[in-house]
Amino acid sequence: MVQGPVTVTVTGAAGQIGYALLFRIASGHLLGPDVPVKLRLLEITPALKAAEGTAMELADCAFPLLQSVDISDDPRVAFDGANVALLVGARPRTKGMERGDLLEANGGIFKPQGEAINAVAADDIKVLVVGNPANTNALIAQAHAPDVPAERFTAMTRLDHNRAISQLASKLDVPVSAIKKLTIWGNHSATQYPDLYHAEVNGKIAAEQVDASWLKDEFIPTVAKRGAAIIEARGASSAASAANAAIDHVYTWVNGTPEGDWTSAAIPSDGSYGVPEGLISSFPVTAKGGKFEIVQGLEIDAFSRERIDASVQELAEERDAVRQLGLI
Ligand code: NAD
Ligand code: LMR
Repeated sequence: MVQGPVTVTVTGAAGQIGYALLFRIASGHLLGPDVPVKLRLLEITPALKAAEGTAMELADCAFPLLQSVDISDDPRVAFDGANVALLVGARPRTKGMERGDLLEANGGIFKPQGEAINAVAADDIKVLVVGNPANTNALIAQAHAPDVPAERFTAMTRLDHNRAISQLASKLDVPVSAIKKLTIWGNHSATQYPDLYHAEVNGKIAAEQVDASWLKDEFIPTVAKRGAAIIEARGASSAASAANAAIDHVYTWVNGTPEGDWTSAAIPSDGSYGVPEGLISSFPVTAKGGKFEIVQGLEIDAFSRERIDASVQELAEERDAVRQLGLI
């Protein structure tokens, strides 16, 4: 059980995910219904006014758990004493932007934020990076916070996890609660691998309950490209579902995974499953006592191996690119 109040810093607070996220944090969904919350909103200077508008609306909700809302454009102020940091604000890819440009622009955001977390956050700080490219942005922030234990920097693949559960439940016409032990491996990108070979539906292996062709040609690409499909349909990237997944990620991290199940989170690799140590890659994880642990001992067949390796290779390339740019 968490003791309150808990200071939660949200970056990109005036953006669309921020708008979907803040009200749920303030109403107790992030940490639990008994935990008072202090919110810190970090925005760039031109967006401070919009953040103030959101703070006015938060006040108008009269949330019993919400003790305070502070807004700043200075990471050293916004992360001061933070117990939980949700790094949502990021530089989106714009037309004509190369991948290196995107990584560099995000380095300009996540490096100073990592430094500020290192300097002023609470000793128990937990960081979730949502802003894309999330895994590598988390790596950049972590590299600039040498005094914070590395495992406190995580990136979000819970949205991919939830998408995969929903697609499978719909295919088999079962409630989402029937599905356990689903795993997203690798990067939060189109190379991610949603694994049905260890997932269970009503206690039976999911991959054995669907056609191999559906699994390979429909399920995997649908989950991996869902973010792009949402952008195509909505004209904007996922916001409420992303905020919901961020809530799920932190709630699980703090309050633990249920017995007999696991979840997916991108956490620093300890070398498990052949993922190079230090890469922030998605794994099957359990949470207990405020710590994620990689589920060990799963057998990985050739089909899964190839897909995990491809996504991990992409993460290694992103790491090498930010290293070359001097960002880590
Ligand atoms: P948005 O453009 O609506 O909002 C981003 C906000 O971040 C803006 O208000 C902007 O002013 C702010 N910002 C920019 N630089 C900042 C900085 N240095 N400090 C503080 N704030 C800063 O975007 P959004 O829809 O809210 O999405 C945010 C990010 O989340 C994007 O990178 C998006 O790709 C990513 N995303 C990730 C997932 C995932 O599953 N990991 C899912 C959906 C979206
Ligand atoms: C998502 O998975 O919905 C997002 O990461 C898509 C995006 O590019 O913002």
